[in-house]
This record gives sequence, structure tokens and C-alpha cells, in this order.
Amino acid sequence: MAQTQRKILVTSALPYANGSIHLGHMLEHIQTDIWVRFQKMRGHLCTAVCADDAHGTAIMIKAAQNGITPEELIEGVRQEHMADFNDFLIGYDNYHSTHSDENREISSSIYKALRDNGKISVRSIKQAFDPEKEMFLADRFIKGTCPKCKAEEQYGDNCEVCSATYSPMEMINPRSVYSDATPIEKESEHYFFKLPDFQDFLAKWTRSGTLQDQVANKLAEWLDSGLQEWDISRDAPYFGFEIPDAPGKYFYVWLDAPIGYMASFQNLCDRTEGLNFDDYWAKDSDAELYHFIGKDIINFHALFWPAMLDCAGYRTPTKVNAHGYVTVDGKKMSKSRGTFIKARTYLNHLDPQYLRYYFAAKLNASVDDIDLNLQDFQQRVNSDVVGKVVNIASRTASFIGKKFDNKLSAEPIDTTVSLCIEAGDIIANHYEQREYGKAIREIMKLADLVNEYVAKEEPWKLVKYDATSQKAHEVCSIALNAFAVITTYLKPVMPHLVADAEAFLGKELTWDNRSELLFGQSVNTFKPLMGRIEQKQIDAMIEEGKLEAEAEAAAQEATQPKAAETELTKEPIEAEINFDDFAKVDLRVALIAKAEHVEKANKLLKLTLDLGGETRTVFSGIKSAYKPEDLEGKLTVMVANLAPRKMKFGLSEGMVLAAGPGGEDIYLLEPHSGAKPGQRVM
Ligand code: 2FM
Ligand code: ZN
Repeated sequence: MAQTQRKILVTSALPYANGSIHLGHMLEHIQTDIWVRFQKMRGHLCTAVCADDAHGTAIMIKAAQNGITPEELIEGVRQEHMADFNDFLIGYDNYHSTHSDENREISSSIYKALRDNGKISVRSIKQAFDPEKEMFLADRFIKGTCPKCKAEEQYGDNCEVCSATYSPMEMINPRSVYSDATPIEKESEHYFFKLPDFQDFLAKWTRSGTLQDQVANKLAEWLDSGLQEWDISRDAPYFGFEIPDAPGKYFYVWLDAPIGYMASFQNLCDRTEGLNFDDYWAKDSDAELYHFIGKDIINFHALFWPAMLDCAGYRTPTKVNAHGYVTVDGKKMSKSRGTFIKARTYLNHLDPQYLRYYFAAKLNASVDDIDLNLQDFQQRVNSDVVGKVVNIASRTASFIGKKFDNKLSAEPIDTTVSLCIEAGDIIANHYEQREYGKAIREIMKLADLVNEYVAKEEPWKLVKYDATSQKAHEVCSIALNAFAVITTYLKPVMPHLVADAEAFLGKELTWDNRSELLFGQSVNTFKPLMGRIEQKQIDAMIEEGKLEAEAEAAAQEATQPKAAETELTKEPIEAEINFDDFAKVDLRVALIAKAEHVEKANKLLKLTLDLGGETRTVFSGIKSAYKPEDLEGKLTVMVANLAPRKMKFGLSEGMVLAAGPGGEDIYLLEPHSGAKPGQRVM
């Protein structure tokens, strides 16, 4: 089956570095990983890279709210994302960041190439500006009342109630979500990529077989109605790369995000013998380049991206594969229903391979949405994987162990195994075309065939009459050889299950060696391979999802007046509260039992507070003023009935009271020395 070795580079969309990975992301990363594992298994030189998408206003603001630098924020999130992917058995060859030296360099050089080719224009535009924070505001960072239907709390570009579209300045009482200030209009110079110059190129490129038909048709509509220049600059303050020769102007996050694919690959090349950047990205490259993305970001990958690459002298993608969204039980993922499931929440309860299998069984090459129906998920995994595939081994391996000393029979005359081997070419073609659902259906047909064969031959009856029945030996050996071939086909989807099968069979399973049979050979002692999904696991996962959503909502509420804590704001006096509100605040004397540094936090100390029997953990932004060792054993005053707040470093269960202008001058409130921990402060 000699075939030429293909050079393939594969990417998934780069997740934003400001939030956790959830099952919506996982669909894409699983889809990518299955394809990559399949290509590697077929002997091709396939490399998969990803990275965190680390730039933009949202990340800058979030870091300020958490009292850390954006660099600290994105590195913490990157570690979390890498752990999630790793535990979902997603095997990227490199997981980098768009905030990297490689990306700065390649982004600048691509920009300069666009500019030197006359494809950048500069002009002034008017935009909403937050006069307090002194920053421009994108529409989604402005809220106000809809000018048409008067619905309150609408975003700055459209009304979710009446669907009206407008500019933020047309709203009634527009406000900055950061400072609550009324935005003003301000002019500044912006840099634009002249996309309309690529009209002909894109009309051709989008019809060249690189896109799904559905996608190409949609793009044709946009192309027909004419392309607009693309605003690629943002004004300071912005977390990103400064534009060459344009001080105070930064690349818009979406300019350097896809270049992050190149940067991640460059970073890998720099430490991998034999992997050469130009082999993959030069205009005349014979390597293949595949992007897996969600349908919401098609314009970036199928218009801006190929135009930029082409103009800067690079090759364009071989294929851009868009997929649909994930729904849970037929509805949009929802925090309150507990179905906005984070990757980690899932992993706390279930084997990642269950979801890999389920998504594979439902995936095809279209952009249709994929529903994770939790009942169907449980039923399908249990009946297919456990009830069909694993069952072949578990119902036959014990006889081979007990009656035949773990040795398989000599090869009998039978067609069962060869039928399984022959199906491999069709299955491979389905994987190649991203028709995983079709591949899984073929694989399950084979499992059914083998199970029917075993059921018909009834080896358990044969050994009852004759403990070392040759027929029973042959039937079980045929079943286990078929099991080897079937699990080979499942290896891209369920790598751990198949690794365990390999350990049992004593053979590394590859597509090419599937016809090398195991008759006459010994196998190892069989151990149970995979258990069923229990309802209680799913229930516990949903419950945890709900609790998380509640904790998040509480934390958000606690951080709403929040602007006051960010480094970017001057602090306004908050709205008045009445005496009853004040009386609700439960102030207690607390003994600082322990004070510790928090790794990677600039401002925070972790305090363990003794309330006279009860202990609380509180993260407090007093690091600039106190050394932990000076605090231990001291008394302070805390708000004891503040809703716990989930912070990046852990749960904070209260707040200590302090005053002062900040920096070294923060003074913890101390009660008189005779006060007792837990005592109420009036
Ligand atoms: O939509 C998103 O989540 C983006 N962070 C995807 C970026 S993909 C690539 F272009 F970097
Ligand atoms: Zn409206």
C-alpha cells in the first residue's frame, strides 16, 4: 500500500485567552485531532499547531480587573487551555500564543508587504470614546436605550428586542460599560487593508475547491455586493502589537490572530530538526494547509486571510473546513440550565473518549450544527462502544485466557476478518473527507457482523462440552483478530481505548499493518477496557455546570462596581445606600492566621482568616503595602457575609477592610487589641 508521504499542516481556530474552553470549542478541536491522528496513522508527515489568541481590549480590561498584567493573564489561561486539550487527548505538536516574538515579527513583515504593495490606506474616522478611561469603545462596549423601541440595556450597535440597528451615538443615554461615562465622539486616524482590490482574486479563490459549497455560495453573496476596506488598526490603550511606523496605533486582534498559525509553526520549526517553515508557507510549497474553524469566522479565513497571504507572497490554504455550533439537548448552551459545559467540568465526571466518539458519530463535512443530546450520548456510547466493540473482546478473551493459555489458534478458513480488513479503504476515505459519521457507521457495521458471528457460533456452549474445543478456539481467535482490525479504525477517535487494546494484543495497530493477523500468536491477559456511562455521571456534570454558573454570576455581581478596582479608572463615589443596606453588612473581627504570596499575582495576598472557629480564605490586593510575615497573628476587620467570589487564583470568601491611597499606603483596619476573632463590629 505504498503511497507518497504527504506534508500536511493543520490548525484549529485559536481560542481567546480570556475564558475557559467549553464543549463548543471541543467539537472543533476533536474534529481536528481525529483528522490529524488519522493522517499520522496513515504514515503522512502531519503537523498540528494551535495557540491562544491573546490580544484585544477584552483581555486588557480583564487583566486590569484581576489586578494582573495582560501577560500574566494570558499565560495563566494558556496553561489552563493546554491542560484541557491535553486531558481531552488533543495532541497538538505545538500550542503557542499570538503574543509571541515570532508573531510580532511575521505580523510586522506581512503588514509591511501589504503597505509596500500599496494595499494599506490611512484616514480619519469618528468613533465613540470613553472620556474617563480615555479609550475608544467598540460598539459592544457601549450600552444604552434603544432609540426605536426604548428597550433598556441594549448594545451599541443593535437592539436585541426590536432588531433595530444604529450607531452608539444615536442611542438614548449611551454609557461605557467600563466606566458608566457617557461616550463622546472623537476622531482618529485608522489604517485599512484594501480588500476591494482583491475582488477578482477572491472570486476565483473561493470557487477553487478550497471551501465547502455552502460556504462558497454565502461568500459569493458578499462578493457580489462589493467588499469594504478592512479597518486593521486600534488606538492605544490596546493590548497587541504596535504597527510599524505608526506610534500609538496597534494591529486589530484579528489581523495578527491567523498569523498566529504561522508563528506557532515557526516556533515549532525552530526546535524541530527537518521541519522547515518555507516548505509549508512559500508560494510554491507542495505541502497542504488545512484550517478547521467555526462558521462564525469564515469571512476572516476565506476573505481577509487568503488576500493577505497572497499579497505578502505566501501560499494560501488548501482547505478551510467550517463546522457548525454545538447545541445541548436541542438548545443553545445555557449557563442557567447547566449546559454551558466547560471542558474541565466534563472531565471531572466523564472519560473524554465518550465525547470524542459521540461527536465523531455525528460529524460530517457540512456546516450543520451538532446536537449533544445527553440521553442519546449515553445510550449511543454504551451501546456502540461498550456493547458492540468492547464486547467482542470481553466475551471472547476470557476463553482464550482460561482455556487456551492466551494463545490464539492457527488461521482457520473464514471470511469474517477479511471483510473487516477490506472495509478499511472506504473507512479511510470517509475520514479523509471529514465524514466521520459515515466512518463510524461502517465501523459499527463490522462490529455487528462480528458479534452476530460469535452469537451464532456460541463458543461458551462449545467449551461446556469440550473444554479445549478447537472450534471455540477458532471462533474466539477470529473474533479477536476482527477486534484488532476494528479498533485500528477507531484509533483516531479513541486513542486510549485503542492503546489498551494494543497492550492486550501485543501489537501496535496501524492502517497499513491491519492485514498482519495474530493467528498462532499469544496475547496478554485481558483487562476490562471501558465502562458504561452512568446517568449519575451526567447528572453530576450538569449540577456542577449550574453551580459554576451561579458562582460566576455572584462573582460578576461582586465585581460590577468593579471599575473602581481596575488600574484604568479614577474612582467615582458609588451610589448611595440606605441604613438598612448598611446594616446588612456583617463586619467581624478576624485573626490573620496565615498570609501567603500568590504565585503570578501582582497585587494579591492570600489570607487565611480565623473568625473564632470558622476559617475563611480571602484574596486581598494589599501586597504592595504588607509583607505576609508581618500580617500573621494580627487582627483585622472583614466583611463576613459577602458572597464568595471566584477569582483566578481561587475562591475568595469575604473581604478585609482597608483604606489609603494605594501603593505602599494601604492600611488594614485593626480593631482594638482585646477584640476576639468572630466578634461583630458595630
Ligand atoms: O473566534 C475566535 O475565538 C477567535 N479567537 C479565533 C481566531 S482564529 C485565528 F484566526 F486565529
Ligand atoms: Zn429596540
